[in-house]
Amino acid sequence: MAYPEGLRLAEPPATGTAEPADDLLERQRRRESSARSYPRRLPIALVAASGSTVRDRQGREYLDCLAGAGALALGHHHPVVVQALRDVLDEGTPLSTLDLPTPVRDRFVEQLFEVLPEPLRDGRILFCGPTGADAVEAAVKLARTATGRSGVLAFGGAYHGMTQGTLALTGRKAVKEPLGTLLPDVHHLPFPTAFRSPFGVSDSDGAAMAGRLVEWALTDDLSGIATPAAVIAEPVQGEGGVQPMPPAFAATVRRATRAANTVLIADEVQTGLGRTGDLWASEAIGLDPDVLVLSKAIGGGLPLAVIVHRGELDGWQPGAHAGTFRGQTLALAAGAATIREVVRAGLAQRAREAGRRLTEGLLAVAADDPRVGHVRGRGLMAGAELVDPGVVDADGVPVPDGWLAARVQRAMLERGVIVEVGGTHDAVVRFLPPLIITDDELDRAVEAFGAALRSVHADEGADR
Ligand SMILES: Cc1ncc(COP(=O)(O)O)c(C=O)c1O
Repeated sequence: MAYPEGLRLAEPPATGTAEPADDLLERQRRRESSARSYPRRLPIALVAASGSTVRDRQGREYLDCLAGAGALALGHHHPVVVQALRDVLDEGTPLSTLDLPTPVRDRFVEQLFEVLPEPLRDGRILFCGPTGADAVEAAVKLARTATGRSGVLAFGGAYHGMTQGTLALTGRKAVKEPLGTLLPDVHHLPFPTAFRSPFGVSDSDGAAMAGRLVEWALTDDLSGIATPAAVIAEPVQGEGGVQPMPPAFAATVRRATRAANTVLIADEVQTGLGRTGDLWASEAIGLDPDVLVLSKAIGGGLPLAVIVHRGELDGWQPGAHAGTFRGQTLALAAGAATIREVVRAGLAQRAREAGRRLTEGLLAVAADDPRVGHVRGRGLMAGAELVDPGVVDADGVPVPDGWLAARVQRAMLERGVIVEVGGTHDAVVRFLPPLIITDDELDRAVEAFGAALRSVHADEGADR
């Protein structure tokens, strides 16, 4: 069976030792909506976790290279996070204050501003509803309010969330098509993807061509696209299959948005706080955004989302972006502790070194197996694109093999390693471990990947 694009909902059969049925999974299957997603591909019910490891109800341990989709920078139950949570409870700080200030909220803001990219340090912060998607919504609303324009330019392969506004900005068609009209006046341009260029050219030529298109769309008076309020981009596309934005493309986007007086929004929901080997991925590639969207890691594993933006954009009405849970006290405490620890322990630098070790390991697997078409990433955001080496597209690039990636993901689970898949046809096996992962654990992840791949034989796919 083929796995069409977007079918991350598929439940591939186990490749070897069958998972014993778990009554929690079974009850979940009966009670929860069919929109549930992760348990379909990762059918485990978890009871405990520590560091980079989680344990299921049968007592089996798994190396967690998904880490709450990147939310757990310090892994599970890091002592500084646990202590910060205990302190809030011991001190009796109110847990929910809407946006009334508390010492915990104040400490979070001061802590975050201390480490922000320099140009945003005299900017403003807005607490959003506690999801990345709500923060992206806020960023777009801010840009629209500030510019008086409505349009947004986004990129193919982007992922910005699942609300109807953020879905409009997202690339994956399968989740959009059933819904009809989403946020209007959104245009997508090609992202300069590595390995599989939308232009059928080399990666560097592709980056230059994608940059030219952005410049054309924003500055050519015949482009057909009304000057947009905002351009939104991820410095490394995560769900889009681990696609780092080339610095030359970032420079062009920045130049063109300035020329058009368009707000540049960097969605660092997944890349922020050290994950890519620098504290802020947008800063490392010179994107220099007007608005930074942050969630996941900045909440220390608890729900928290903010935008930070240049002060001059701050012209909107009181209550223009409201919501009940904008800065929940436990999340603020966990987040401040996490930011402090990431900086204190030099975890961005560690992510860079660990990422190098991880990609070298994956490249070694690729050297022995042509089904690993491409290995890429930045820091601890790494991916291996699986392909069918026997079938090439019109550009001579082997076609993505989502069927194989799904089997490898399941076979890795059976070997005690949790990974995610993403990208075109979900053919990219994604590694997104906590930043505290050890070298030994990384080596285990790579070994499991190689062993899983070897366990899936081409002839098994005959019926796909
Ligand atoms: C880059 C990016 N933006 C936005 C989101 C949406 O965040 P949330 O799932 O918290 O709404 C995600 C989630 O994975 C993301 O990776």
